[in-house]
Amino acid sequence: MPETKRLFFAIALPAPLQQEIIDWRATHFPETTGRPVAAANLHLTLAFLGDVTSEKQQVLMQLARRIRQGAFALTLDDAGLWVRSQVIWLGTRSPARGLLSLADMLRAQAARNGCYQSPQPFHPHITLWRNAARDARLPAPGFRWSFTVSSFALYESQFARGRTRYTPLAEFPLEQPES
Ligand code: 2AM
Repeated sequence: MPETKRLFFAIALPAPLQQEIIDWRATHFPETTGRPVAAANLHLTLAFLGDVTSEKQQVLMQLARRIRQGAFALTLDDAGLWVRSQVIWLGTRSPARGLLSLADMLRAQAARNGCYQSPQPFHPHITLWRNAARDARLPAPGFRWSFTVSSFALYESQFARGRTRYTPLAEFPLEQPES
């Protein structure tokens, strides 16, 4: 069996925003809500690749490098609970076109290279809680964070000693608007 890594393309949150969201979570949800995702693990997945050989990783990285996509603004102003997957997430009411087309391209490239892609439509989200109780209460609307996405990255997901760790393996800049 060839060695594989569990990989995904995602957008990282700026460190100060990670902390702000963690603080907001602590004041808006009781600890009994579920298992909180660690600050450093907050991210928005663009395309999940699954277990990938190093050859396929190289191909997918080369294709990702060829993507011509401008930077875009990401606004986080929505939250929800997925009862079946027991996830509470943060998301966006009106996803930027750039976000949707970037995810579309990465998912199509992944599918063409044999990485199974869920038939579910892409729902951009940042997982905040796992193992969420089905009756968990969501905060009232009114929160809003916005930041410019100027790159995305390829991450490896590892689970060791009871912890999940996401390690960035490569970063891909988006095109900057000409000034
Ligand atoms: P989640 O946060 O909604 O669970 C690393 O595991 C990242 O890939 C997470 O953002 C996770 O989404 C996502 N992920 C894991 N398995 C997936 C799958 N089968 N399909 C789509 N995304 C998946």
